[in-house]
Amino acid sequence: MKILDTKFVRGFVKMADDGFKQGWHERNGGNLSYRLKPSEVEEIRPRLNDHADWAPIGTSVPGLAGEFFLITGSGKYFRNIAVDPEACLAIIELDDKGENYRIRWGLVEGGRPTSELPAHMMNHEVKKRVTNGRHRVIYHAHTTNIIALTFVLPLKDEIFTRELWESATECPVVFPDGVGVVPWMVPGGREIAVATSRLMEKYDVAIWAHHGMFCSGEDFDLTFGLMHTVEKSAEILLKVLAVTPVKRQTITPENFREVAKGFHISLPERFLYEKKNPGGIE
Ligand code: 13P
Ligand code: ZN
Repeated sequence: MKILDTKFVRGFVKMADDGFKQGWHERNGGNLSYRLKPSEVEEIRPRLNDHADWAPIGTSVPGLAGEFFLITGSGKYFRNIAVDPEACLAIIELDDKGENYRIRWGLVEGGRPTSELPAHMMNHEVKKRVTNGRHRVIYHAHTTNIIALTFVLPLKDEIFTRELWESATECPVVFPDGVGVVPWMVPGGREIAVATSRLMEKYDVAIWAHHGMFCSGEDFDLTFGLMHTVEKSAEILLKVLAVTPVKRQTITPENFREVAKGFHISLPERFLYEKKNPGGIE
């Protein structure tokens, strides 16, 4: 089957384009990766090339040895992905140690996978393990409102989770495990990848202070929907905070416990703390 006609490539390209239309991908901002199913690899195997050299991933991910990924190229613009996917995207294969990769398709005008390859691979490795292989998508976007919030709220998992939950009733249903926050760090390296993948052990969302967000999910719809929900909640919160530092009324810890019962989910009590100032942040 032609690689561009496969369902997973079409789903990937649509998601990238949807993200661009949301305004989350200025210039080359953001990156996206998808771990292929064995049946998808077999479907395209005759059309893969094997002339590229192996190159270091920049970290070690033995749990992903031999896996194939569809991934955005470094410096490529999301606004061009739908127009020219073969120039913007690559399918890469990892070696049997999970230390090197080689390009098997795409990046036809040259280039290499995203500079956040270590973060993508380390997040995939954690999520493959903790979800029994269900999660396949890792998405990084420069979401405007979440970035703005990282200048305003204390950089604590509990406070970000609680404030985002309070800003739209369905949020605790969409991300019941909460969100994690990485303090400002240099992007593109192994250090920020390690910090992010630690958070991915317990959350599906990691916020990078003054930079953006990483989300993990089973498929393109769920991962995009998660990013969209968190970002919209941040937008509501910023609108409220722009009007007043104190909310006149809000969703209370007791209300969250009722939501948990009604939706048969469990919401960790550490996010349902009593505030010193009930309409405020802390
Ligand atoms: P890449 O173009 O290398 O993917 O980098 C974009 C980015 O958002 C880095 O955090
Ligand atoms: Zn970025």
